[in-house]
Amino acid sequence: MLDVKILVLVGSLRRDSVNAAIARAAIGVAPEGVTMTPHDLRPLPLYDGDAELAGPPDEVMGFYDALGPADGVLIFSPEYNLSFPALTKNAIDWMSRPPRPWQGKAISIVTATPGGRAGLSLRTHFEAIMSRMPVRVFEPLGIGTYDDKMGPDGELADPMTRAELEAHLRGFAELAALPAE
Ligand code: FNR
Repeated sequence: MLDVKILVLVGSLRRDSVNAAIARAAIGVAPEGVTMTPHDLRPLPLYDGDAELAGPPDEVMGFYDALGPADGVLIFSPEYNLSFPALTKNAIDWMSRPPRPWQGKAISIVTATPGGRAGLSLRTHFEAIMSRMPVRVFEPLGIGTYDDKMGPDGELADPMTRAELEAHLRGFAELAALPAE
């Protein structure tokens, strides 16, 4: 049986964020043996090299501590202007700095958008960037035309999308479970 810990990051600050709703749905369909723990990116300061030199702020150390026991990092993010929202990119920038707390871990992104391209450009950027990082990348998942897929209370209602999400989680967890090289 799987025994995998996944840290869940959401790259939107919006109260009614669809990406946050999809992260909640993912936690709800996590396969047995997969523990998904959300980590709030709101308190994370903007990357600042001076702050890093002085000793990373407590919020950054808290983020690094949360990353420590995780086998994988799963990001749920909107696409802004065909790329990363600042919140998502800022988390990536902090993770990329020494002591490189994401080293050897699995990583993937789920992008939900109102349009049909489902964040294709962001997913392409993500894969390009991650190919140069010391992480193991699992193919991103795009969820497009989300208005058709959400229920009356803002929950992910579409059964096919829920099944896609579950399959994504299973594949991601299997990668995360492999021993680091
Ligand atoms: C967007 N949106 C958007 N959508 C998209 O598919 N491609 C894009 O390039 C952009 N660009 C963009 C820029 C900015 C500044 C904003 C505010 C929005 C729309 C975006 O996908 C939509 O607002 C999502 O619902 C935001 O995600 P959350 O907050 O619902 O998770």
